[in-house]
Amino acid sequence: MTGDTPVTVQVRAGEGGYPVVIECGILDRLPELLPAFAPAYRYAVISDAHVAALYGETAVARLRGEGLRADLFTFPSGEASKSRRQWSILTDRLLDARLGRDGVVVALGGGVTGDLAGFVAATYMRGIPLVQVPTSLVAMIDASVGGKTGVDVEAGKNLVGSFHPPRAVVVDPLALGTLEPKERASGLAEAVKHGAILDRAYFDQLVGAADTLLAAEPGPSTAAVRRSVEIKAEVVSGDEREAGRRQILNYGHTLGHAIEAASNYGVGHGQAVAAGMVLEARIGERLGITEKGTADQLSAALGRFGLPGRLEVSALVADVLAYPMRDKKMRAGRERYILLERIGSCHSRGGWSHEVPASLVREVVSGWMTP
Ligand SMILES: NC(=O)c1ccc[n+]([C@@H]2O[C@H](COP(=O)([O-])OP(=O)(O)OC[C@H]3O[C@@H](n4cnc5c(N)ncnc54)[C@H](O)[C@@H]3O)[C@@H](O)[C@H]2O)c1
Ligand SMILES: [Zn+2]
Repeated sequence: MTGDTPVTVQVRAGEGGYPVVIECGILDRLPELLPAFAPAYRYAVISDAHVAALYGETAVARLRGEGLRADLFTFPSGEASKSRRQWSILTDRLLDARLGRDGVVVALGGGVTGDLAGFVAATYMRGIPLVQVPTSLVAMIDASVGGKTGVDVEAGKNLVGSFHPPRAVVVDPLALGTLEPKERASGLAEAVKHGAILDRAYFDQLVGAADTLLAAEPGPSTAAVRRSVEIKAEVVSGDEREAGRRQILNYGHTLGHAIEAASNYGVGHGQAVAAGMVLEARIGERLGITEKGTADQLSAALGRFGLPGRLEVSALVADVLAYPMRDKKMRAGRERYILLERIGSCHSRGGWSHEVPASLVREVVSGWMTP
């Protein structure tokens, strides 16, 4: 895969939509792009501490160098910061800094930053404009596109939030160069999911380019970011609020979330979703909905990315089986699953998500211990 030329993918949304601009080195052009996409009296750049040191300080210095008013607001890195507490701290800091309704929030960082800063923007003075500048692969191909923002609460992840589509998403694939390999693999799990639900050719390309993608080579990375963003944009454009087809993006996530929670979040999201995709394909195969051999193809493809990696499966199984009833995708108290027909296409007859007998889930998840 190659991807040297800059591309713009348009996302349709309730209020007219927004562009996702993908280009190597585009972070240097923020002083030109921010005023074009979201003119403001002042920019509040929000980053976690890690990304602030790598990109945030330079970005703000560059904005100021071009005569723009910009300030950097940071918070501690990690999922634990995606909280009502950090939302409240950041909001107070923006108020103390006297950011007005003519301000714009720039979420510069991974998915945690995008969700948290996005929720700050969604609620600050009843909502001010937001520009997403994702720096992790998960944020580039998933979190920054679709308009979902929010925080985690005691009762579960992402349970408090808002739809707040950005004015624009600015993606610099060169930023992947500083990302930890484990974080790259986590994003690649979502990319494989995009291929698995909608695009067989993309799935095959990802597998073929696995080594260069894991090494964050700019050409293949840009091409993958582009195709994944196109797929996510196409799916969310038709269904902003997840009433229908958008649910297919949850493939692998019913059991994936259960695995994450059962491990007390010791198993990362990408790893958990990778295992979830294979298990959900096995469920589909057992129901006669998913073509035979799909789970094995998925497993081999994900293996190229080192996914799901070592999981202490025997300890997880009992907890995984106890978990799914609490999942957000539950409708009328029953678990729902997205099922593939085969790699590259989802089963949609009778709706996008399917009820699966608990006994079958139990059997497939239990069988996981003895591969
Ligand atoms: N809103 C949505 O639709 C949506 C979709 C998918 C995921 N999410 C959310 O996104 C979050 C996960 O995102 P994530 O994996 O990016 O987590 P993250 O934001 O915590 O980033 C992971 C780590 O990578 C670091 N990092 C980010 N960019 C970097 C770079 N270029 N170089 C070096 N380090 C960098 C961060 O500091 C952090 O330590 C979860 O909270 C999840 O719920 C939201
Ligand atoms: Zn996911």
